[in-house]
Amino acid sequence: MKKILYIKANIKKYGDSRTFKISDRFVEEYKKNNPDDEVIVLDLYKERIGFLRPEDLEKLLGKKDDEARKNSILKYVYQFVDADKYIIAAPMWNLSIPAILKAYMDYVCASGITFKYTENGPVGLCKGKKAVHIVSRGGNYSEGPAKEYEMGDRYLRTIFAFFGITDFTTIAADKLDDKSEDVEAILNQAIIRAMNVAKEF
Ligand SMILES: Cc1cc2nc3c(=O)[nH]c(=O)nc-3n(C[C@H](O)[C@H](O)[C@H](O)COP(=O)(O)O)c2cc1C
Repeated sequence: MKKILYIKANIKKYGDSRTFKISDRFVEEYKKNNPDDEVIVLDLYKERIGFLRPEDLEKLLGKKDDEARKNSILKYVYQFVDADKYIIAAPMWNLSIPAILKAYMDYVCASGITFKYTENGPVGLCKGKKAVHIVSRGGNYSEGPAKEYEMGDRYLRTIFAFFGITDFTTIAADKLDDKSEDVEAILNQAIIRAMNVAKEF
């Protein structure tokens, strides 16, 4: 039985969020194909993820005892390493990811847990796992002149690789705020791709 961590980063709820329309179908299809696996939903807004405080830094950098493991922000990084696969659903905000997702990544980057320092530099401790990033965007950042301004998917792909997770797939629905586009068709295409990727995930 595999554990799948479904990380949701949007203030909009299902029905309003186009990103969640795609990611929820991904999860539905995944569950259909892997009924024994456990999908853990982590809604970052419901969790009220905040920014790192001085006492959090002490926990991240300090001794990882049982108390810290259960009763501090360290619970998020332990939950993270306990998972086998990751589904991240986040719209593009200001060329990147919503700030709450970056704040969450600050919780999850903990030396000795997701990565470690060695004589030869940092090494990821989450090898063999896989991730999918599901994103919707107003403009087109998959190709064309704006591609180089895209910093959300690039950041996630890089930080996951830093943890040792190089099996990283992106499912992007671009141009959803472009009035000249058939937005429903773009969404449907992304949902079909998501369902196909979910079958093999
Ligand atoms: C705060 C905010 C910032 C945004 N910044 C961008 C942006 O930089 N580039 C872009 O193409 N779309 C941007 N958008 C548009 C969203 O990415 C787009 O509408 C997306 O489909 C929203 O997904 P959702 O329906 O799941 O919330 C932004 C939207 C919001 C609310």
